[in-house]
Parts: sequence; structure tokens; C-alpha cells
Amino acid sequence: MYADAETYSPPPFKLERYLAQHEFQARYFLSASDCESLTLRELLALADPASRAGWEDLGLGYTESAGHPALRAAVAGLYETRRADDVLILAPAEGIWIAMHALLSPGDHVVALFPAYQSLYEVARFLGCPVTQWSLTPTPTGWHLDLDQLARHLTPQTRLLVLNFPHNPTGYQPTPAEWTAILDLARQHELYVFSDEMYRLLEYDPADRLPAACDVYERGISLSGLSKSFGLPGLRIGWLVTPDRAVLTRCAALKDYTTICNSAPSEALAVMALRAGDTILARNRAIIQVNLATAARFFAEHAAQFTWRPPRAGSVAFPEWTGGGSVAAFCQMTLDEQGVLMVPGHLFDLPGEHFRLGLGRRNLAAALDRMGQILRKEGA
Ligand SMILES: Cc1ncc(COP(=O)(O)O)c(C=O)c1O
Repeated sequence: MYADAETYSPPPFKLERYLAQHEFQARYFLSASDCESLTLRELLALADPASRAGWEDLGLGYTESAGHPALRAAVAGLYETRRADDVLILAPAEGIWIAMHALLSPGDHVVALFPAYQSLYEVARFLGCPVTQWSLTPTPTGWHLDLDQLARHLTPQTRLLVLNFPHNPTGYQPTPAEWTAILDLARQHELYVFSDEMYRLLEYDPADRLPAACDVYERGISLSGLSKSFGLPGLRIGWLVTPDRAVLTRCAALKDYTTICNSAPSEALAVMALRAGDTILARNRAIIQVNLATAARFFAEHAAQFTWRPPRAGSVAFPEWTGGGSVAAFCQMTLDEQGVLMVPGHLFDLPGEHFRLGLGRRNLAAALDRMGQILRKEGA
């Protein structure tokens, strides 16, 4: 039973529709959430001999529905306690769609972190589930999440808690102690936890890395993939990992209605990327470190026009435009005059004048320079 029985479709995905219109026309994309993507040549240069041979001798038939065994094993290697059997390979966005369908029935209550990548709450609504937003709020120096608020949001009907740390778009990350407290609360209420961990492994300090939900919570479903931290979104490879075999089996059955199986070339390249994972992740974290310093300098120089709330982890941040007029108008100006595409906060349905800043791309300094030219021209 679908919420909107007339159209059988959820409302438009605002961010994705906006990007579909502008992303490939704009000269600079200052709000990209992914890390600088690798070329095929760069990835092949990192290949170990076995995965290189796997690529060259690759058959182009259908692939195993759950994912190639070598890929599932490589993914399991990213976790402390999980095995290849706990892994289902799919496209990350597909993982959200499928997991929500597997976990929810109409009327189930869902608590979802907000703001969020839209499908993380919209698919639940589409399925006829009331969704309560657990909101991050801005403070003068960062973003704040109130754990007592979460406890107040839970009802006997609550079935699912949807989380995303490191967070898109704020860069928020709870402390390990807060993470444990959140999962303890979920355990007390016997909730499923859908944990979108697409930006995991991009912590600036390894001590800030949270254990994956699928490693420490028996009803935890972790979503991750190669799109963000690994800078390989064009492969369209992600995964769901959970110790809950019944949930994984339902997800696998739903995949027969979406893609059936994954692209063989993408799977072969994904194995290669995961085996070279340490090198790729170190490269991407280094890009982010340089960009964090550049952004901090830029926002210090333009302190009258922006409030800079430094992210705690991941490849995005969510600064606030305080320079007058709406941030939507400012973003339109940067696009029209300098070819700099930015994502205004209203695409996340968030009131206020925030915009997403992507920290994973090598051309961030050049794009900020273009923005600076506009600010100087406007006399800001
Ligand atoms: C938090 C989050 N989850 C999932 C996705 C989907 O990833 P993909 O575009 O690789 O399917 C994104 C992409 O922006 C995201 O930011």
C-alpha cells in the first residue's frame, strides 16, 4: 500500500533534481559531497596482480545477485565482526529504497535525523509511515544534537531509527559515548537502526571513528559504499551489512525488483579499490585536510558574510550566509556570474540561510576564489 496511490511515486527528490539540472553544466561544484574521483587509469595503477587479472579476464555475463564473493569478502573486511554472508552489494541509493521497504509496514513510526539526504525519511513517508524528525540545531560554533529529544520522540509504535554519521550536510559526528547512548536507547525500545555510514572512514582524527552499527548493534543495518569516502561514485557500488539475517534476506529478495545484480565491471573495480583502500582513503583525507584549512581562512576573511561551523568528520559542511538577502539568491548569483554551483539549504527543507560546502574536491580553493570575486564586487 503506497501513500500516494494516484501516482505511485514519492515527491521529487529536491537535491537530486537540482543537481540533474546543473551539476554537469557548472564549471565548479562547490557543494559536492563526494571526494575527488579517481580515473580508471589511476585505479588500475593501484591494482594488486590478482584484481588486475580479474579485470582483464572479466566475463560480462550476469553476476551473483548478492554480489561477487570476493567483493563481499573485501567489504566484510571493513568491519570488526561481520562476514561475507552479512553483506548485500547494491547501489547506495538503492540500498536506502530497499532497506526501507524491507523494514517498514504502513503505520510504523519512524524517527529520522534531520536535515538529511531526502530519501532517508521520504521513502518511509511514501510507504505510509509517520516520520518524526530528530533535528540538529545550529549553535554559534557548530551543530548540536539533543539525546533527550530523541528519547521524547520514541513511542510504542516506533520501529525504526534512521541515522547518518558523519552527517550530510552538517559534518556532525557524535562522540563514541553519545553513539553508545543512542544505540542503548534503540536497544531498550527494540528499534531497528538504519545507519547511513556513507562518509565513514573520513574522520579527521582516527579516535573519532564510531563503530559501525552492524558491528555493535544486533538490529543495526549499516549502509556504505564507494561513492563518497573512496571517490568512486561512478561505479555505483555500495552495500548493506547487518547481523540480522532475516532483514538481509528480505533485502536480497527486493533487489530482484530493482537491479537483480550488479554491473560486472563495477564489481571488479570495486574489489580493486577496496584492496587499495588505505591508499585511496589517505589520499582523500589529505585533500579534505587541505580544504579545511583553506575554508577556515576564507571564512575568517569574510566573517561578516558567513558563519562557519567546522565539520567534525566527513567531506561536507553547512556554513550559513549572513551577508544579506537569501542564500538561494546568493547561490544563483555565484552560478550565473562565476559558474560556481552551490546547494542552498532549502533543498534540504531546512529554514535559514545555510548552504552545503563540499570539502573533497581539489578545486575548492579556485571555486572559493571565484566566490570571493563576487563578494568584492558586491562590496561585501
Ligand atoms: C547520506 C547519503 N546517503 C546515500 C547517498 C546515496 O549515494 P549514491 O549517490 O552513491 O547512491 C548519498 C549521496 O549523496 C548521501 O549523501
